[in-house]
Amino acid sequence: MDGVTQDHDAGGSARARHVAIIMDGNGRWAAKRGLPREAGHRAGIEALRRVVRGAPDLGVEMLTVYAFSTENWRRPAEEVSALMRLLVEFLESETPELAAQGVALATIGDLSVLPQESQAALRRALASTAGGGRLLLTLALNYGGRAEIVRAAKKLVRMVQAGDVSLDDVDEAVFARLLDTHAMPDPDLLVRASGEERLSNFLLWQSAYTELWVTETLWPDFGMEHLQQALRAYAGRDRRYGSHS
Ligand code: IPE
Ligand code: IPE
Ligand code: MG
Repeated sequence: MDGVTQDHDAGGSARARHVAIIMDGNGRWAAKRGLPREAGHRAGIEALRRVVRGAPDLGVEMLTVYAFSTENWRRPAEEVSALMRLLVEFLESETPELAAQGVALATIGDLSVLPQESQAALRRALASTAGGGRLLLTLALNYGGRAEIVRAAKKLVRMVQAGDVSLDDVDEAVFARLLDTHAMPDPDLLVRASGEERLSNFLLWQSAYTELWVTETLWPDFGMEHLQQALRAYAGRDRRYGSHS
């Protein structure tokens, strides 16, 4: 799949094949219950399980979820290590189930600075789900849109310097192939839980014409009814891509 080959027909928005989700609000969910933030992250993983199980039945083929941003390292070390621990736990407990459901796991973001244990668990999970053809589940880990664009720009400079590509041939398609998301089309729909109306550095390049849908629901409370609601809203949108309606 080409990262920039899209269904650009004006008004052609009936089904969202690729849904991106900013899984936000775990901390507030826990605080409301007088629980530690980690409990919110655990409940957030349950919400992810539900959505992954149900999404293919709604016609979703790709789900890209923001799990840890390049800015999330600013959190207390204790919370960061809890998140890394939960990631490994999720991968280890969920991989057989994901494989059985036909879910293929992938990642975007710079994994090289994640703990070795997380990297190893990711390698194992990616290998054992590689055959999944029902849903592509991409985890954004140590992901930031700006960092991704800078990494792509550096790759491009090296390619030009090496003479592998001529500067005159560089266009959006060439650039998009250097992004972490090179193997998937841009998201059709971006869902954000917890009511914040911002991208928080998620898929900056890829969201150029993505439809946005924000719910006040905190991520741990998110369920299939919310995904259905988002997809219904999407079906009513008129995607014009700058063209006339
Ligand atoms: C999202 O929930 C999970 C991550 C960023 C890892 P938060 O932890 O940001 O929850 P809130 O926004 O503080 O409620
Ligand atoms: C975005 O949520 C990152 C993830 C959900 C992983 P944040 O909670 O980090 O974003 P801000 O700080 O509210 O913008
Ligand atoms: Mg948050």
